[in-house]
Amino acid sequence: MNLNLQNWLQCELESLKHNNLYKTPKILESPADGSVTMNGKKVINLSSNNYLGLANHPEVREAAIESIEKWGVGAGAVRWIGGTMDIHDSLEQEIASWKSVEDVLVFTSGFTSNSGCIPAVLTKNDVVISDELNHASIIDGVRLSSAKYKKSDGYVYRHADMDHLEEILKKCEHFEKRMIITDGVFSMDGDIAPLPQIVELAEKYDAFVMVDDAHASGVLGKHGSGTTSHFNLYGRVDIQLGTLSKALGVVGGYIAGSENLKKWLINRGRPYLFSTAHPPMVAGALIKCLEIMQRDNSLINRLWDNAKYWKDSLQSAGFDTMGSETPITPVYVGDEGKAAEMEKMLWDEGVFALSIIYPTVALGKARIRTMPNATHTIDELDRALVAFKKVRDKLGKF
Ligand SMILES: Cc1ncc(COP(=O)(O)O)c(C=O)c1O
Repeated sequence: MNLNLQNWLQCELESLKHNNLYKTPKILESPADGSVTMNGKKVINLSSNNYLGLANHPEVREAAIESIEKWGVGAGAVRWIGGTMDIHDSLEQEIASWKSVEDVLVFTSGFTSNSGCIPAVLTKNDVVISDELNHASIIDGVRLSSAKYKKSDGYVYRHADMDHLEEILKKCEHFEKRMIITDGVFSMDGDIAPLPQIVELAEKYDAFVMVDDAHASGVLGKHGSGTTSHFNLYGRVDIQLGTLSKALGVVGGYIAGSENLKKWLINRGRPYLFSTAHPPMVAGALIKCLEIMQRDNSLINRLWDNAKYWKDSLQSAGFDTMGSETPITPVYVGDEGKAAEMEKMLWDEGVFALSIIYPTVALGKARIRTMPNATHTIDELDRALVAFKKVRDKLGKF
């Protein structure tokens, strides 16, 4: 039977709307900041990954402009075909030094770092063992590989459950390579992966470890260099992924590890091989972000002070922050309809905080995900709390 594309799209969109899964982005009309103008309204923004406020930092803006003046606005080609400018190279050297690794390869996003690296390092004789709450970009990267990975085949471990991970590792000795992959900080719950135990199990069962530090970069460890530093596991995590688009404020992703890993990905990482290099101003701005982060810890300290203040305030007011250990602070609601309603009511009270519902999280575990960052003032956080309490009083207890 032939399906008309437009009819099919119409039906699918209706179905999304019917199931409360339809998304329409709100439009930011001001730079990323603690308070922003969005869809014509001034709101406190609790949904930004701009953890350190670098996205609109005056020195970073200046560095981006200087880069445009020196190198123009485009690289003109894929990295290996002549699109690698010396400023791209300098950025990789700066990241490698910050992460204390041999070498780094930058991709155009965190998402493409996963889809570039994971399939490149695995063959059909290998297995990937994943935490059940890993990010969508890890899942897609794993799906692109020819390794075994499926939950239905028993290769996905219950969230942070080290006994379950060990049980799976015991069954995987016949594979050529075993890769354990985990988020460093889980993006919907804000908890930190038990990396020391993961590394120990990997060493015991001759597996290797890849950690996705998208939400740990700029947040955890020495000068925000991630979970490997946070847990002092230098040299024991084989592949570290980070994004340059959250705490680092611009855009991009990287794979950090050995010199040979970089050489291999230059030859086999498909998004690197077949997609144009970042504009040089991205690299210039990022080099400045790394300098600011390593100059002193003031932005990281401010991020953590605000995160503690916000979490303590919510908890004192009786909200459940679901055991979050990092600035990602979910506010548990449970019911999907109530969470969607709460998001709308918070918006009316001048707070932008997104509801996260199934299928992003399990059914019945809907939440409002809040992300205090270094740009928020105490006054903004206090006003946001007043809005949360007011909305809860209207909605009834959850
Ligand atoms: C754990 C994790 N990995 C990767 C990504 C993708 O990063 P980027 O936005 O740089 O593509 C995200 C983004 O939300 C993430 O949360």
